[in-house]
Amino acid sequence: MKLQIPYDDLRSWIDLAGEVGEVRAVEGASWQEEIGMAAELLNHSDPAPAVLFDRIPGYPQGHRILVNFFGGRRKNMTLGLPSGLNNFQLSGAFTEAFQAVTPIPYEFVDDGPILENIKMGDDINVLSFPTPLWHELDGGRYIGTGSFNITQDPDEGWVNLGTYRVMVHDEKSVGFYISPGKHGRIHRDKYFARQEPMPAVVVVGADPLLFLMTCTEIPYGVSEYEIAGGLRGKPCKVIKGKVTGLPIPANAEIVLEGFVDPKKRKPEGPFGEWTGYYGSGLRDEPYMDVKAIYYRNNPIMLGCPPQRPPDEISRYRSILRSGFLKQALEKAGLSGIKAAWASEVGNTRMLLCIAIEQRCRGLCGQICGRRR
Ligand SMILES: Cc1cc2nc3c(=O)[nH]c(=O)nc-3n(C[C@H](O)[C@H](O)[C@H](O)COP(=O)(O)O)c2cc1C
Repeated sequence: MKLQIPYDDLRSWIDLAGEVGEVRAVEGASWQEEIGMAAELLNHSDPAPAVLFDRIPGYPQGHRILVNFFGGRRKNMTLGLPSGLNNFQLSGAFTEAFQAVTPIPYEFVDDGPILENIKMGDDINVLSFPTPLWHELDGGRYIGTGSFNITQDPDEGWVNLGTYRVMVHDEKSVGFYISPGKHGRIHRDKYFARQEPMPAVVVVGADPLLFLMTCTEIPYGVSEYEIAGGLRGKPCKVIKGKVTGLPIPANAEIVLEGFVDPKKRKPEGPFGEWTGYYGSGLRDEPYMDVKAIYYRNNPIMLGCPPQRPPDEISRYRSILRSGFLKQALEKAGLSGIKAAWASEVGNTRMLLCIAIEQRCRGLCGQICGRRR
């Protein structure tokens, strides 16, 4: 089934989700406590709506935050598939489209809404956005949850987009934690091995399809821009970063651009992680000196804080991984597989459910890899 992605950016996505009655507006919630608490309650429930927070005390009206985008009927809309498909059908159809995708290279354009406001030098202030404290014991405010980092391989030139948490240190610096082996980390290691600063961009609030691709394990050397372009059937439009030259989505909401110095570290963490607890404490990590901030008028931060599963990202991963699971079982020669589900409750790794037609004794054991 061909995907028909009916939106181009976060704003047209919000309009469409609003049309199916799945966006609520909330005014006056605090960044210190209320937005984080509300996100946690919403994220656990598939049918709960997306919520757009505005009039956040201490910030200008119009500086908004969207949470819980991936749930309800908007899952199908986000993935460009008919609303009538149930989760199994959605999984099968999306996995098939994802595997068949022909990458489409991104395209540079001269202008875009992200250039509506540009701050440089003394005007740079990351604290001018209403970043929530997402979980009670977080070591700081994380502007990067529904975000992604853009980096370029210094040898091969390809551009990676990866979701890695981003903590606000102060007006002009933000820190990340990137696990070993992640593509952004490999890029950073290459720069650091040469003692060179790494150019980087953090995108906070973008086209939801592109965001989902940045938290999907796409093979090394392939840009998430090209996969999102391929799924949509047209190139992602990008502008050239004024400081780094990196390609920045022309219709993003908020963008931070700068350099990560190999010699500099600041304490980062702890942060509530996808397991539902704090996996690590405070430690020194590299950070980005912010040299430019770009944002649209009335910018919308996309918040996707990890929660104890099920949460919105485990809902997305279930769709993708369940499709892969079913295919893997069929490729292994097991017949009679009626359905497979990598449960969002077990964060898609710890609880795999398989429905089979019991054609012979011992089939369950074969599927689980048990010898009889
Ligand atoms: C909300 C959210 C937060 C994440 N935070 C991190 C993180 O802090 N560090 C990390 O290494 N991966 C994190 N991940 C997982 C990566 O985004 C994921 O593995 C992705 O595929 C990495 O991209 P890459 O393969 O291009 O490196 C997070 C994912 C999500 C959805």
